Amino acid sequence: MTFVADPRQAAVWNGPVGAHWAAHQDRYDAMLAGLNDTLFDAAAVTPGDRVLDVGCGAGATTRIAARLAAPGQVVGVDISTPLLERARASTAAEGIANAAYECADAQTRPFPAGGYDVVLSRGGVMFFADHAAAFRNLARALRPGGRLAFVCPRPPGPHSEEGRVLGLFGRLVDAEPGPDQVAARTAMASLMDPDRIREVLAGYEEVAVVPVTVEAVWGRDVPDAVEFLLSRVPGGALPASRLAELEEALRPFATDTGVRLRGGVWRVTAVRP
Ligand SMILES: C[S@@+](CC[C@H](N)C(=O)[O-])C[C@H]1O[C@@H](n2cnc3c(N)ncnc32)[C@H](O)[C@@H]1O
Repeated sequence: MTFVADPRQAAVWNGPVGAHWAAHQDRYDAMLAGLNDTLFDAAAVTPGDRVLDVGCGAGATTRIAARLAAPGQVVGVDISTPLLERARASTAAEGIANAAYECADAQTRPFPAGGYDVVLSRGGVMFFADHAAAFRNLARALRPGGRLAFVCPRPPGPHSEEGRVLGLFGRLVDAEPGPDQVAARTAMASLMDPDRIREVLAGYEEVAVVPVTVEAVWGRDVPDAVEFLLSRVPGGALPASRLAELEEALRPFATDTGVRLRGGVWRVTAVRP
């Protein structure tokens, strides 16, 4: 791996947080699949495009981009060894030949100048040591006129179902998050302010930051969602009365296609001059 500007995030995504994402690849992909239409509408990948997927994780969006861009080449870049292992395995299993992965910090990686038509990310651009420097590096990787498209979390707000349920869950669990979880959550929220997004994209043109409401699938049914939520906290258990309260809070969102909670993201697009 090239120099990583933020060793704390490297530890997070190569430690228990990254291991959890790798072990629960299917769950995270189900949870985040609601973002794909928004992301790929914004990215407008067409056949022949060269695409860079930043913070590609287990590569779900890299594989979608590869299908859309074929015969163009797609590269997923990430700092997490366990997630890149999953990405490579899934890509091989699906017989996708035009996608490759690089273990590197997208902030510091010397990408080929002008080497990409599209840079995209599903929630992988919030963890940089220096966001402005990272987006300058990504602009350099884009050809003039190339597109940047990403989605990142928006502040939950009082009407966010996801925000309300996760807030309740946090109170029920009542456990101090570990240092890795704090680092991950803090970084996750680093681009919630749209003015901050515009600030770090200085140097791009046609910057648009649009609020989008999406549904996240937290489990097949209520017990499955509870099991997943509990797997994300140390100890992983709740006393019976608190468990019942959590199940009660999730029940209204149980549908034939999973426990679906609405939440918000920013859809961000920009063009390299
Ligand atoms: C919230 S996960 C999203 C993963 C993936 N995009 C998805 O939608 O499943 C954030 C990802 O960003 C990666 N990441 C964090 N900092 C990074 C950096 N500086 N350069 C490249 N990837 C990074 C993490 O390892 C992790 O895989």
